[in-house]
Amino acid sequence: MRSRAFAPYSNYRVGAAVETETGEIIGGCNVESSSYGLTCCAERVALFNAIAKGHKNFKSLAVSTENGGMPCGACRQVIWDLCKKIEIHICNKRGWLKTINSLELLPDAFDESFLK
Ligand code: THU
Repeated sequence: MRSRAFAPYSNYRVGAAVETETGEIIGGCNVESSSYGLTCCAERVALFNAIAKGHKNFKSLAVSTENGGMPCGACRQVIWDLCKKIEIHICNKRGWLKTINSLELLPDAFDESFLK
């Protein structure tokens, strides 16, 4: 997925893949905009792609960058909203680096329980 990144402004290419409860792997890459703030991260593209394909439950997420970059704050919120507590595998250009879970990335998260 990293090779599909559209990142002409930052040249920072990110690939992500989400594993569904049924074992399917669905990917995404970062897609940048000339109006920088409209850029969408690879993690969100992967998750939105999976949702659009009809998946609702997820087991894990992998993120691949050159240097082991971690999911941004916005993605941490979206990961929590759509996946709750899942494992997140962080990779660099050599492969797997570490595994962390989404609760560790966003403790005390805001979520739908506050909206009831
Ligand atoms: N990016 C991601 O795709 N995921 C992250 O979690 C961090 C940042 C992208 C957004 C932008 O295209 C580039 O990396 C530099 O910020």
